[in-house]
Amino acid sequence: MVGSAIVRALQTQSETNIVTRTHAELDLTNQAAVQQFFAQEKPTQVYLAAAKVGGIHANNTYPADFIYQNLMIQVNVVDAAFRNGVQKLLFLGSSCIYPRMAIQPMREDALLSGVLEPTNEPYAIAKIAGIKLCESYNRQYGHSHGVDYRSVMPTNLYGPGDNYHPENSHVIPALIRRFHEAKVSQAPSVAIWGTGTPRREFLCVDDMAAACLHVMQLPKSIFDEHTQPMQSHINLGSGSDVTISELAHHIARTVGFTGRITFDVSMPDGALRKWMDSSRLDALGWKPHIALQQGLATAYQDFVSRQEQKP
Ligand SMILES: NC(=O)c1ccc[n+]([C@@H]2O[C@H](COP(=O)([O-])OP(=O)(O)OC[C@H]3O[C@@H](n4cnc5c(N)ncnc54)[C@H](OP(=O)(O)O)[C@@H]3O)[C@@H](O)[C@H]2O)c1
Repeated sequence: MVGSAIVRALQTQSETNIVTRTHAELDLTNQAAVQQFFAQEKPTQVYLAAAKVGGIHANNTYPADFIYQNLMIQVNVVDAAFRNGVQKLLFLGSSCIYPRMAIQPMREDALLSGVLEPTNEPYAIAKIAGIKLCESYNRQYGHSHGVDYRSVMPTNLYGPGDNYHPENSHVIPALIRRFHEAKVSQAPSVAIWGTGTPRREFLCVDDMAAACLHVMQLPKSIFDEHTQPMQSHINLGSGSDVTISELAHHIARTVGFTGRITFDVSMPDGALRKWMDSSRLDALGWKPHIALQQGLATAYQDFVSRQEQKP
């Protein structure tokens, strides 16, 4: 989802010289293959969006895969980029790098200030290592080789290219599927887990991609003014959040589901509020442009067109 959105954003800037590889074409955990790719293609800039991702269940079941594969992908790509003269790289992390009890909204300086959420700790540790990898290469090779590797931490994303799997998808794609199926089967109601009161922040992936290009293309002097060498990551948030109930009603309207929405209060709510402080991004001159309703409409179009493409 993220990598494709970054490619679309680069294309809108008329960038034609974009090199991509699918997982099947290049396994980024394979150090020799990654070195060979960089030596052959000699990219000048790198956006590292590839990662082993998954929900709570996958993170709990395969913790070794999550920490090993993500560390390997990052170490191989960052080092191969450096060895092949890449001066600009953008690393994609996520909000799970922040401690479980971080003060809300979560500021960049909350990093490493407390205990992580245990369910995705191995994944979060790998992402934190990715930030520190970039910072360490900057500190050692910034002056001598012009290395300028930056990191961004997006909030919850949704939009074209999302995963609509019935069991292991995030809340927006999961609700799009459920409301769509309820509409098609003319179900009278849809039950949502929990009370509907927790608040969550969402950013459309196309907005996120625009923010990535903005951060990548900032002059170094401006970037340095707003960051520190050992605290250089930037939160990518939308600056506003909605309750799960509001979100469900938005999605139902987008999909055209007219039945009832009920809340199964016997199911857990999770954290009451989770959102990111995006004031650093704001100070760097970027704001989101895609309102939630507009982004949901695009996401639903994407869902429907993928349903239609299915054999
Ligand atoms: N989605 C969100 O809400 C969200 C929020 C915050 C941050 N992010 C970050 O954004 C990044 C991308 O996430 P996404 O949502 O775009 O996930 P995604 O759609 O699953 O994309 C990840 C891509 O990485 C590829 N990949 C995995 N292991 C690889 C390997 N060893 N070699 C080469 N390619 C490999 C996957 O290929 P296969 O599918 O074929 O394995 C997939 O194409 C991640 O770093 C994630 O932490 C996402």
